[in-house]
Amino acid sequence: MTKAMEWLGDKLRILDQSRLPQDEIFADLDNCHDVILAIKEMRIRGAPAIGVAAAYGIALGASGIKAASKHEFLAQLSQVVQSFAGSRPTAVNLFQATRRMQQAATGDSIAEIRKSLVDEAKRIHKEEIAATELLSRLGADLIGDGFRLLTHCNAGPLATAGYGTALGVIKAAKEQNKRVTVFATETRPLLQGARLTTWELMGEGIPVTLITDAMAGYFMERKKVDCVIVGADRIAANGDAANKIGTYTLAVLAKENGIPFYVAAPTSTIDLSLSSGDEIPIEERSAEEVTHIRGVPIAPEGVKVANPAFDVTPHDYITAIITEKGVIREPYTRGLDTRQ
Ligand code: MRU
Repeated sequence: MTKAMEWLGDKLRILDQSRLPQDEIFADLDNCHDVILAIKEMRIRGAPAIGVAAAYGIALGASGIKAASKHEFLAQLSQVVQSFAGSRPTAVNLFQATRRMQQAATGDSIAEIRKSLVDEAKRIHKEEIAATELLSRLGADLIGDGFRLLTHCNAGPLATAGYGTALGVIKAAKEQNKRVTVFATETRPLLQGARLTTWELMGEGIPVTLITDAMAGYFMERKKVDCVIVGADRIAANGDAANKIGTYTLAVLAKENGIPFYVAAPTSTIDLSLSSGDEIPIEERSAEEVTHIRGVPIAPEGVKVANPAFDVTPHDYITAIITEKGVIREPYTRGLDTRQ
């Protein structure tokens, strides 16, 4: 399985996702600033992976704090936590992780607090691995033998620091000896589908066909797609789900063509504090991501650009949400509250 990141005791080793698939480059990050930058520049990306990286980054930040007292140390630690919370706004896993790390900052001495933070980061990572493995197995039961699936963006091990969500379900279906094939949308502007999803699926020996985003309706209407499965960055209490820009379009097309539309996500992606998707903050990224492809300009200089990185799919377009605690269907308002 691809290792998106690995904790090495005093640093975080990441596989630089911005360079894949041409270059498999690992970077060792030994301070919190480099981890924040890697998240912002999407060298680490995908909701669960962002949360895990932030947790390790906070542990690294704690190890770099020079403070004369515990009080001073905790004040500086809060600033480190705040810097992570400001790195990317949409994936709620980031905020779950920063909250947990802040709460884990306990101990009689600075050394003890530092240790508690490393332990908590490792726990968050372990939980994501376990959750993605479990939800993948549960989701695989929804996939029939011979299914032709369509997925968007990248929701595999790279995006989760675990087994994967949407791609995890597809991998688990293959492990159940189901013959599955996949359409991967390229996912403009940063091409996570073309660069990462195809790379991961080919590595797993799962047949994949790369299509541009605009081709999805063509294949759905021609009955070439049996189900759509995607990940999520934040799911509101009513089941509305934010995911990579273009997901909403796919959901509408799926409904129009009578195709099931599944969202696979660990419960760390659920935000019960938001009653609907209208409240999910949508990240707006730089114009250059749209006007350029890997540094090469493709649009006239100075053109006006919009670049929302995510959209929200209303819950009534979602056939089911697959989590490690079960497969949830309407009414989501009741089903998503998995605390009981
Ligand atoms: O901007 P990105 O690449 O971080 O967006 C990632 C996605 O939208 C994924 O589909 C989502 O995080 C689910 S990952 C398991």
